[in-house]
Amino acid sequence: MKKKRVGIVGLGFIAKGVHLPGISKSPDLELTAICDIDAGALEAVQKAYGIDDAHCFTDYRDLIACEDVDVVDICVPNDVHYPVALCAIEMGKPYNLEKPVGLDKAEADTLAALTKEKELPNMVCFSYRFKAASRYARDLVLSGALGDIYHANMQYFQAWGIPYQDIPLLWFFTKEHAGSGVLGDLGSHGVDLVRFITGKEYQRVIGNQKTFVRERRKKDGSGMCKVDVDDSSYFMADMEGGLSASFLITRFAYGRSNYQRLEIYGSKGALIYKLDETPGVDELEVCIGEPYASTHTYTKVQIPDKYHVDQMQSLADILLGKGDGLSANIYDGQRDQYVLDAVIESSATGRWVTL
Ligand SMILES: NC(=O)c1ccc[n+]([C@@H]2O[C@H](COP(=O)([O-])OP(=O)(O)OC[C@H]3O[C@@H](n4cnc5c(N)ncnc54)[C@H](O)[C@@H]3O)[C@@H](O)[C@H]2O)c1
Repeated sequence: MKKKRVGIVGLGFIAKGVHLPGISKSPDLELTAICDIDAGALEAVQKAYGIDDAHCFTDYRDLIACEDVDVVDICVPNDVHYPVALCAIEMGKPYNLEKPVGLDKAEADTLAALTKEKELPNMVCFSYRFKAASRYARDLVLSGALGDIYHANMQYFQAWGIPYQDIPLLWFFTKEHAGSGVLGDLGSHGVDLVRFITGKEYQRVIGNQKTFVRERRKKDGSGMCKVDVDDSSYFMADMEGGLSASFLITRFAYGRSNYQRLEIYGSKGALIYKLDETPGVDELEVCIGEPYASTHTYTKVQIPDKYHVDQMQSLADILLGKGDGLSANIYDGQRDQYVLDAVIESSATGRWVTL
């Protein structure tokens, strides 16, 4: 079968770390075109992946229009998600979109509606759906092994905001380019993961956001600039079926790299999904049934091979019409964006916000 030809827009951290290697690894994908407004970034990827000049672009519209591109892979900062995805949809091209899907609900609504109208294959990169531990956790919860679910507690911790790291004012720290701070960056994953594993929709949220470092040095050395987004977001959510969930999301967790912990408690059992407690490793512990409950014993489980999947191969599978239905799509991204917007509103008003 003919490989699906991928054009990537945005050649920064996530493109280099996940998307480009994933395309190389997949027998069903091939990289045919690249685009970045930064000449250095473009040249580096051109050399590394042997792309000819005719397939290197600085304007995303040219890449999307290129006849050698079957799918548009969108790895740009959050404020550029909407224009690039919109252009792909208008030109009738399937797309793969980084998270969060846009800056706000309005952008997410438009992308979801137009994608539906055109029936375009698409994927949204909620990457932790591809962790074997989260897939196994989902199966356990949805099979009823934990009984009725009462609680979910989600922690997503990184440390690169803390002053000693001396990170300058990247686009991640501006509302204009990111929409929100750690909420959209890491919180979007946490919100999706709880929804993915429990299968429950959000009903209402209440939360608070904080900015610990209010100004950061500009990258060009020309002084300081204001940070106008959150460094930490913590919130509670009522979800379907009486499930109460809580979230602590921060870039100020000393000593953490990419740490996630999701505890789920039900009437017959509990589980703990963990990422990065052992560096880079996803793990699952369970406590199911009376003998384990009475001795408060959580046991690490072996995760069956069938739960090991790859993000970019999952994109290929969607394009080939054989997706497993577990990857996120623009509809999931839209639901996620609703929660992010509601947390921001709640933090501003101090009130519960109904979705
Ligand atoms: N799924 C995940 O786990 C994960 C992890 C990290 C980042 N991300 C997401 O990936 C996206 C990119 O993040 P990143 O860390 O790679 O950022 P980055 O700043 O490292 O890279 C972004 C790249 O986009 C380029 N760019 C900016 N505007 C452009 C335009 N108009 N046309 C073409 N190129 C343009 C920049 O020059 C840069 O090379 C963000 O939405 C982020 O939230 C997702």
